[in-house]
Amino acid sequence: MRLRASTDGASLEALRVEYLGKKGRLTGALRALGTLAVSERPVFGQRVNRAKEVLEAALAVRGEELRMRQREAALQGSAVDVTLPGFGAAPGRPHPLTRTLTDICDVLGGMGFTVVEGPEVEDDYHNFEALNMPADHPARDMQDTFFVDDGRVLRTHTSPVQIRVMERQPPPLRIIAPGAVYRNDDDATHSPMFHQVEGLMVDRNVTFAHLKGVLTTFLRKVFERDVSVRLRPSFFPFTEPSAEVDVGCVVCGQSGRQCRVCKGTGWLEILGAGMIDPAVFAHVGYDPEEYSGFAFGVGVERVAMLKYGIDDIRLFYGGDLRFLRQF
Ligand code: PHE
Repeated sequence: MRLRASTDGASLEALRVEYLGKKGRLTGALRALGTLAVSERPVFGQRVNRAKEVLEAALAVRGEELRMRQREAALQGSAVDVTLPGFGAAPGRPHPLTRTLTDICDVLGGMGFTVVEGPEVEDDYHNFEALNMPADHPARDMQDTFFVDDGRVLRTHTSPVQIRVMERQPPPLRIIAPGAVYRNDDDATHSPMFHQVEGLMVDRNVTFAHLKGVLTTFLRKVFERDVSVRLRPSFFPFTEPSAEVDVGCVVCGQSGRQCRVCKGTGWLEILGAGMIDPAVFAHVGYDPEEYSGFAFGVGVERVAMLKYGIDDIRLFYGGDLRFLRQF
């Protein structure tokens, strides 16, 4: 009865002390052994000890019972209803620009170009001078430069990385330089910060045909279709001859019919390129009689806008999840 009634460790312990403790009832009974007749002692002693054993066993069983019950209660308290609806996971994904940049680097990486990087705060020498744009060169006006301080600028293109690589490395080389560039220009198709990937290949006997071949393969892989590629004569101070490169419009399939993206021309300008000007080789100590090379610069935003049909460059930087979730 009293065992049943004790519902926690403390009352059970009190019960144990009451019977089996130093001053407990059974202990007292054993002590009374001396007052008995000698002949009665063994039987009495045996009975008391037997009672002690029974009691100890019962206490142990009840103790275990109580511990079980406690554990059960603790588990109940922290129980989780696995049938309740959960919180949906909201997985992130790469930004469309990151994705385009990665695609471009993957394709060119597969063609043997190694990724290098250069500083975004650049000096006048690497951004202009060594690229054959001396201080009074009119081509500097095309760049809408952000000036920092004592002759430093936010790089207006990734071409200065060409110079930095050639300064520290002899030919042959095949590199790409992805990164942010800055120009003081801001509307639906121009952002003051945007991204380019520069390509540079220098070796013996590199020709314009290599340039055209590399660009055609590259553009077809990036746009994931057999786009037509067209080269138009152009001018950059650091390449000669130079070309502007168009791809057949990926929006209207080159028909030009009522196409806002190519403005009816069927062509989209996608990058600038050309053969390295000997004046550039002179700045980095390459022998233009022995080596030749080509370079190109492609706008990452421009590729992404054309590939995904985006008509406002500012969408890339607005952080609007309704836009970003579409990729
Ligand atoms: N740097 C040029 C630009 O930003 C692009 C370019 C790169 C042209 C390499 C030719 C060769 O306009």
